[in-house]
Amino acid sequence: MQKRNLITFLSLLLAAVFLTVLFVAVTNSNKIEKEITPLATTIIELDEKTIASSGFVNDTGVSQVIQHCTQCHSSTLVTQNRLSEAGWKATIEWMQETQNLWDLGKNEERIIAYLAKNYGPTKKGRRQPIKGVEWYELD
Ligand code: HEC
Repeated sequence: MQKRNLITFLSLLLAAVFLTVLFVAVTNSNKIEKEITPLATTIIELDEKTIASSGFVNDTGVSQVIQHCTQCHSSTLVTQNRLSEAGWKATIEWMQETQNLWDLGKNEERIIAYLAKNYGPTKKGRRQPIKGVEWYELD
């Protein structure tokens, strides 16, 4: 009879340990998931100081660009480029296919719109031609 009690006790103990390990494993995996997914599913705005020191133009979508585009390389690699909407889209797809860039989720549209507007090909690097000048003939 005593031996059976011992076996019952040990079985219950084993079950308790197993359940504890399972519980810890499940709560931890939830924690990791929670840390990653908000970046893709929610729009997070950063404070002015962070934006000012980022090297990016302050405009709608800048917070998302900082959060997603400065984790593997500097902001300079982004800001030195001038690309159209399609060009930025292609660059992002290239990074997703070859450089392990994650799915940008809800943030993708904002990021591409921001980049095309502030780092688009239409921004002239050179001055505009001079207009309204009265030219005269050289003798
Ligand atoms: C997971 C890492 C990672 C993230 C996040 C990331 N990139 Fe990149 N990106 C890379 C790597 C790696 C390169 C190649 C760097 C090199 O050539 O030395 C690169 C290169 C680039 C280039 C240069 C491409 C070229 O043709 O030379 C641009 C522009 C760029 N990234 C923009 C972005 C933008 C915009 C985002 C945000 C949406 C972003 N990156 C987020 C990894 C990443």
